[in-house]
Amino acid sequence: MIDSLRTRLRPLALWGAALACSAAAAAPGPADPVPATSAAFAAPAATVPAGMASRVLACTTCHGKEGRATAEGYFPRIAGKPAGYLHNQLLNFRDGRRSYPQMGYLIEHLTDDYLREMAVHFAALDLPYPPPPAPQGTPAQLEQGRALVQQGDAARKIPACVQCHGTTMTGVAPSIPGLLGLPRDYLNSQLGAWKTGQRKAQSPDCMADVARQLTPEDVSAVSAWLAAQPVPGNGKPVASLPAAMPARCGGVAEGGRP
Ligand code: HEC
Ligand code: HEC
Repeated sequence: MIDSLRTRLRPLALWGAALACSAAAAAPGPADPVPATSAAFAAPAATVPAGMASRVLACTTCHGKEGRATAEGYFPRIAGKPAGYLHNQLLNFRDGRRSYPQMGYLIEHLTDDYLREMAVHFAALDLPYPPPPAPQGTPAQLEQGRALVQQGDAARKIPACVQCHGTTMTGVAPSIPGLLGLPRDYLNSQLGAWKTGQRKAQSPDCMADVARQLTPEDVSAVSAWLAAQPVPGNGKPVASLPAAMPARCGGVAEGGRP
């Protein structure tokens, strides 16, 4: 099943390579080493090729119809997330900074341009979120999670998550993801993976620094609280942060602003 869907991705991979060649011919010079600048996503509509929805069927076998996932289960939603964030993740999986072999296999031969087109396709989807599942955790644990997300803990050098992920926690265009509408298991696993070095972002990996400051109890508390929050405004990322981010993050424009 996945094998037959994988072959659907191939013609476009070649198409992407051809595009990259013709672009190189038109504008010789070194390639831009920073993939996720806002400039790369300035005119997204123009770069989504026709037939994309049928070609990403392989993705929706795991990520749910149109990439919208489900309220339960592990697979993260990808629909409507910031394009630069999605592109960075596809690069991370392809290049080994994140690992999920069944998915890596599908994208290992795809070009940067083709991955960007898929990212732009999923980012452009504007689909409602289901209501959140009932909170799983004691009131004290949920309160600990809320406080860490909204205020951080200065004494332990933990910045508030909202300083980078936005006050509505729906992320910031183009490269910072939202924290809502994600399964508790997925959140636990991602924060744990950053702590152990199994998940990496581009350098400087600010999330690794944040995650290393969190105890296992902090991780459980934050994940339990976040997973139980409703998602405002279909989870659309905000355009900019009110203040500069507390640290620099690789693959994200300076200050988190586009
Ligand atoms: C076999 C199941 C499977 C398939 C098929 C699959 N994925 Fe995934 N994908 C996953 C899992 C599981 C994760 C989370 C992995 C982890 O724990 O880090 C993931 C993570 C992602 C992420 C990161 C999401 C986030 O919030 O950080 C993106 C983007 C993504 N997938 C896009 C795609 C695209 C595009 C395709 C099609 C080319 C695809 N996936 C096909 C299972 C799959
Ligand atoms: C200095 C800015 C910054 C702070 C503070 C921060 N984050 Fe992040 N976070 C990021 C960036 C940037 C990414 C995207 C990393 C990448 O490209 O893989 C991210 C990604 C994530 C993800 C992955 C989402 C997904 O869909 O896979 C989770 C979960 C997360 N952060 C949780 C948190 C929590 C919880 C806190 C607070 C304890 C926090 N972050 C604080 C910048 C920050």
